[in-house]
Amino acid sequence: MEIKVSFKDISNEDKIYKNLYDGKWVESNSDKLIEIKSPINGELLGKVQSMSKEEVDLAIKNSKEAQKLWAEVPINRRAAILYRAAEILEQNANELAEMLVLEIAKDKRGAIAEVYRTIDYIKFTADSAKQLEGETIPGDSFPGTKKNKISFVTRVPLGVVLAISPFNYPVNLAASKIAPALAAGNAVFFKPPTQGSISGLYLAEIFNKAGLPDGVLNTVTGRGSEIGDYCVTHPDIDFINFTGSTEVGKRISNITTMKPVLLELGGKDAAIVLEDADLDEAADNIVAGGYSYSGQRCTAVKRILVMDSVADELVAKVKTKVAKLEVGDPREEGTVVGPLINGKACDFVMELIEDAKEKGAELVIGGNREGNIVYPTLFDKVDTNMRLAWEEPFGPVLPVIRVKSIDEAIGIANESSYGLQSSVFTKNIDAAFYIANKLEVGTVQVNNKPERGPDHFPFLGVKASGMGTQGIRYSIEAMSRPKAIVLNLGAVE
Ligand code: NAP
Ligand code: G3P
Repeated sequence: MEIKVSFKDISNEDKIYKNLYDGKWVESNSDKLIEIKSPINGELLGKVQSMSKEEVDLAIKNSKEAQKLWAEVPINRRAAILYRAAEILEQNANELAEMLVLEIAKDKRGAIAEVYRTIDYIKFTADSAKQLEGETIPGDSFPGTKKNKISFVTRVPLGVVLAISPFNYPVNLAASKIAPALAAGNAVFFKPPTQGSISGLYLAEIFNKAGLPDGVLNTVTGRGSEIGDYCVTHPDIDFINFTGSTEVGKRISNITTMKPVLLELGGKDAAIVLEDADLDEAADNIVAGGYSYSGQRCTAVKRILVMDSVADELVAKVKTKVAKLEVGDPREEGTVVGPLINGKACDFVMELIEDAKEKGAELVIGGNREGNIVYPTLFDKVDTNMRLAWEEPFGPVLPVIRVKSIDEAIGIANESSYGLQSSVFTKNIDAAFYIANKLEVGTVQVNNKPERGPDHFPFLGVKASGMGTQGIRYSIEAMSRPKAIVLNLGAVE
């Protein structure tokens, strides 16, 4: 049966969006509203409420009570609800994609891709949930232990998971927390990004419509800078699954104690290009990796470390491809680079551009801004005293750093405080593995741009890029724990 979800289902006649609480959409008593305007043209899309601490308390209490019952629901039933959620999401894919375009200025192709990727994500999570298994361990494999001991190990949920997602994937990086958490038997208290919250709340309604028991999924809206600390330190939150900036991730890590976290944070992914690389392949991947969604991806290519002997040729190829990128309104077919999420983000990107110019980097293309659009920008001959060599722009600007050896490239790559992913472009598999084994990152892509997908692969950052591992099975494991029951058999009379 088809279920159409309308934005009117989750908001009032004034387009004030409510929160999901105990299976119902309820308005906050707070009269503090946050206007959600489109980064494209400032159009008012709706308003969300800044929930009070008292309301957060009520919601988390409700989640905690609901979780006890949810943990008793058979896994096959939990999986069935996830499959239903994927089905309903597919039935409403276009409506949600249209909101993504308006709310976060994601290009149309990227927006519909995010929704369909999420459908697959939820289905694969349901499949994986059915493999949520434990083990039995005989005691006598350990010296001195008799045969009478056997440990029966299963996996059990952690309790209430606080899911906090970022603006750039408000659907996929919400579902990538919600679905595995639910599969493992947890309740979820979901905080969408403020810019992206309408899309996030719509996703919550899809899970709700799929038949989740009341309270198993509750939502909270409000600025993270105002309500975030209260949520992450709340005594009834048992796990924090956060994706966002390193700054916020570090804050969460510092103010929470004895609370397990999964942090997916910022990045400064390097594309290392060796002399024998297929430079057309490298250029294609660098441009796709560096400029899609205006560079607002944690796994975007954020620096190019290229052997000097092939740098001129690579720069020319990248420049030609950058010049062809469609820039403008993300509602138009083919747009790749559009307005950044807000003016502050633009200001920051322009700061890095100006710093590079002042310190002598060679501007190859771009460098200019129109409103909140930063034109795709490439700098050559960037050196390590420039901010652009180290800081994460989260915008369409790429530095080329020329190197003279593989070890120099590895040294510069590892000097970054970040450690999310890197790419190596070469035909020499020995060189690829030599470099990959030395890079201090979560994942190395060989002859491909950095990317999180496919979503069953492990996805993790080290150093300032995060703690813990995402990826469907990894996420289910992260949000569950072993429970051991040891059988001590007595002697038979
Ligand atoms: P952000 O500013 O850190 O916000 C991320 C989420 O955290 C939002 O929901 C935000 O709420 C919330 N938040 C803000 N302050 C908080 C606090 N004190 N306590 C708890 N939650 C708080 O990041 P963003 O601007 O959305 O995303 C861009 C950054 O995230 C970039 O650095 C990017 O590299 C990183 N990122 C990493 C990954 C990854 O998988 N590694 C993926 C995407 C993005 P509000 O929206 O209300 O502020
Ligand atoms: O920034 C979002 C991060 O999760 C990267 O995802 O799939 O664009 O590599 P993806």
